Amino acid sequence: MREVAIIGVGMTKFGELWDTPLRDLFATAAAECLEDAGVEREKVQSAYIGCMSGGLFVGQEHLASMLTDYAGLKGISATRVESACASGGAAFRAAWMEVASGMSDFVLAGGVEKMNDGADATYCLATAADQEYEVYNGVTFPGLYAMIANAHMEKYGTTPQMLAQVAVKNHANGALNPKAQFQMKITQDTVLGAVRVAEPLGLFDCSPVTDGAACVLLAPVEVAKKLGKPIVKVIGAGHATDTIALHDREDLAAIPAVGEAARRAYEMAGVGPDDIDVAEVHDCFTIAEIVCSEELGFFERGKAGQAALDGVTALDGAKPINTSGGLKSKGHPVGASGIAQICELTLQLTGRAGERQLKKKPRIALAQNMGGSGGSCTVHILEVEQ
Ligand code: COA
Repeated sequence: MREVAIIGVGMTKFGELWDTPLRDLFATAAAECLEDAGVEREKVQSAYIGCMSGGLFVGQEHLASMLTDYAGLKGISATRVESACASGGAAFRAAWMEVASGMSDFVLAGGVEKMNDGADATYCLATAADQEYEVYNGVTFPGLYAMIANAHMEKYGTTPQMLAQVAVKNHANGALNPKAQFQMKITQDTVLGAVRVAEPLGLFDCSPVTDGAACVLLAPVEVAKKLGKPIVKVIGAGHATDTIALHDREDLAAIPAVGEAARRAYEMAGVGPDDIDVAEVHDCFTIAEIVCSEELGFFERGKAGQAALDGVTALDGAKPINTSGGLKSKGHPVGASGIAQICELTLQLTGRAGERQLKKKPRIALAQNMGGSGGSCTVHILEVEQ
């Protein structure tokens, strides 16, 4: 396998973008990415695009052809990738494999979702859960994560204040990100006093409904060197799946696909959790950041909530998590989120993250992107050559 580098990143602003159609979202992110890479459109050979549901959200499928055509990439090999909220991470994995295999030199990994176009987002999102056993019985995604939160609280003593601190931290980071949906700081009182969605989760424990797109361009390290780019290498890639229904899991306070994807990625990279300088963790709900951080090995089981309260995961903490604002504050256009995580980490690794740039420039970064309530998960580990 060839070593692969990320040579360009681009993303739209995330938010309620009523006036921007799906295709424009993707074209904008792709154009910014290619400009960042300094690579002409004609060089791009292939694209993998994560999108959870063009059909349900905006009534449009056959997306890969349409989106690449509109982005000025007509005729290339193009594939839409679906793995619920992990669609972006899965698209990145496919693009990485195509470059690593030697098949292509310039491959675009993208993600896009338009969730605010009138469709019932709660219904559309629930198609990623088990229809027969969960959704037909009235469960929604906030409901599923509320069950995980209750189990974690019961088993480890995790408190509402710990959950709230994840939201406070991610909003503080998002306030420094001009592309974030919510750019305002909040307090524990904001979170704890907000309208309840599914106990113990309130409005500010949830990621929002978001429109947006993100793209990254991959190339072999040797090619990237010739272009004079900073070398951000993909050193580890792990992908794992699990039952999509919660009732088939042994322990609701764990999300095993995350642990397994991480184990595979760490093994390939030859690094462990202590080597990770910065991470983007899938915080679709505050409890998800806590459980996933434990599965990734950053903290012992039951200890991630206290770590958030102690400031360990803050921008100036020992293990900064979700410097972009995370899904909570940056927004969660589901198919794009996994790619936006890679964009953020590439910016951090190359010292281009603006006001939220970590003071000590990171060397190794980890992105974890999850589908549904953990039925699928990708983990990618990146390293910048210094
Ligand atoms: N966090 C903070 N504020 C939020 C928010 C969120 N997640 N979602 C909406 N808001 C704000 C809006 O900006 C708006 O503020 P304003 O009145 O100042 O303009 C207000 O709350 C009402 O917004 P609205 O769009 O009417 O909210 P809603 O009640 O329709 O939706 C949720 C709120 C929590 C139900 C929705 O955001 C949601 O479903 N989130 C989860 C998404 C999800 O499941 N993703 C997949 C994960 S696996």
